[in-house]
Amino acid sequence: MTIRSVILGTGSYLPEKIMTNKDMEAIVDTTDEWIVQRTGIRERRVAAADQNTADMAIEAARQALHAAGLQGSDIDGVIVATSTPDTTFPSVAVKVQAALGVRQGPVFDVHAVCAGFIYALTVADSLLRTGAARRLLVVGAEKMTSILNWEDRTTCVLFGDGAGALVLEAQEGSGEIADRGILSTHLHADGNLRDILYVNGGVSSTQTAGHIVMEGKEVFRQAVALMADVVTEALDHNGISSADIDWLVPHQANIRIIEGTAKKLGVELDQVVLTVDRHGNTSAASIPLALDEAVRDGRIQPGHLLLLEGLGSGLTWGAALIRY
Ligand code: UT7
Repeated sequence: MTIRSVILGTGSYLPEKIMTNKDMEAIVDTTDEWIVQRTGIRERRVAAADQNTADMAIEAARQALHAAGLQGSDIDGVIVATSTPDTTFPSVAVKVQAALGVRQGPVFDVHAVCAGFIYALTVADSLLRTGAARRLLVVGAEKMTSILNWEDRTTCVLFGDGAGALVLEAQEGSGEIADRGILSTHLHADGNLRDILYVNGGVSSTQTAGHIVMEGKEVFRQAVALMADVVTEALDHNGISSADIDWLVPHQANIRIIEGTAKKLGVELDQVVLTVDRHGNTSAASIPLALDEAVRDGRIQPGHLLLLEGLGSGLTWGAALIRY
C-alpha cells in the first residue's frame, strides 16, 4: 500500500495595502518601465505595521481549513515556512495552532527562504507517509517588507507580503502516477552560494533583523540553471514528460526566470500560474498563494498534474510533483 499526501483545501491572504511601481518611483530612483521589463512586477502588497507574519498565516490557514470542510481539531499538526517570523521564538506555527484550535503537534517553522514551501511540503509529506500524522496544515507566510532596505532600489522593488496555505491528508494510493496527492519532492541546497543572497543581520550576529542584500545577476543566473535541472529531475523521476503537466506553479521572483523554466520544460505560458505582476516576490508564500488563486478561479481542477518549483537564499531549491 502506498500512502499519498492529498490536498484537501487551499487558502491565502494578502494585506490590503497595494504599493504600485509608481509608488516606488517616489521612494527610490526607479521607473515603472524598468521594474516591469526586468521583473514583470507591477505592484505588491504591504502588511500594516501592526500586522505580523502570523496574522497573515492564520488567515490563510483558516481559509484552507474552510475549503477542506474541516476544523482545527481535525488537524494533527502545523508546519509554517517563513524567514520573517514575528519573534525569534516561539515559531509562527504555534500561533497558527493556537488561533485555529489545533490540539496536537508536531508544530514548527521551516526556514528555507523562497524554497521554504517546497521544503515544508516535503517534511509534511514524510510525516504523513510514515503515519506520524493524518492531516497537516502547511503554510507559507512572509512579511518581506520588514527586512527591506527602502533605500536600495536593487532589492526594495522586488518583494511583497502575504500568505498561502493548504491542508494535506494521508490517503491510500496505488503507487501509480494516476494517484492523487504528492507524487514526489526534490530538495537541494548549496551553502557555498550563501553570500549571493542574504540578510545582513540576525540574532547571534548583530541582534538586529537586518536587510536583504542580493547579487541579483548571479542569483538570476543560478536560478535559471537550477530550476531547469530540478524540473527535469522531477519529470525523469516519475517517468513522465512535460506534456503530462497541466500547470506549472513556480516561485514568483521574476517573470524572466519563470519564462526560462517554462521554455526549458516546453510548457506554454498559459499553463503557468503567474502572480508575480500583482504580488512581487513573497518568498515562501508565493507558491501557495499562486496555487490557491488558480484553485479558486477554477483553472486547477481535480486530477490535474501540478509541478511546483522554487529557489531562494542558501541557495536552497526544490520541486514537487502533485496530482491535485
Ligand atoms: O526569490 C529569491 C530569488 N531571487 C531572485 O530570483 C532574483 C534574481 N535576480 C533578478 O531577478 C534580477 O537580477 C534583478 C531583477 C534583481 C535585476 O535585474 P538585472 O537585469 O539582472 O539587472 P542588473 O542587476 O544587472 O542591473 C542593471 C542596471 C544596473 O545599472 P548599471 O550598473 O547597468 O548602470 C542597476 O543599477 O539596472 C540598475 N537597477 C535599477 N534601475 C532602475 C537596479 N535596480 C534598479 C531599479 N530601477 N529598481
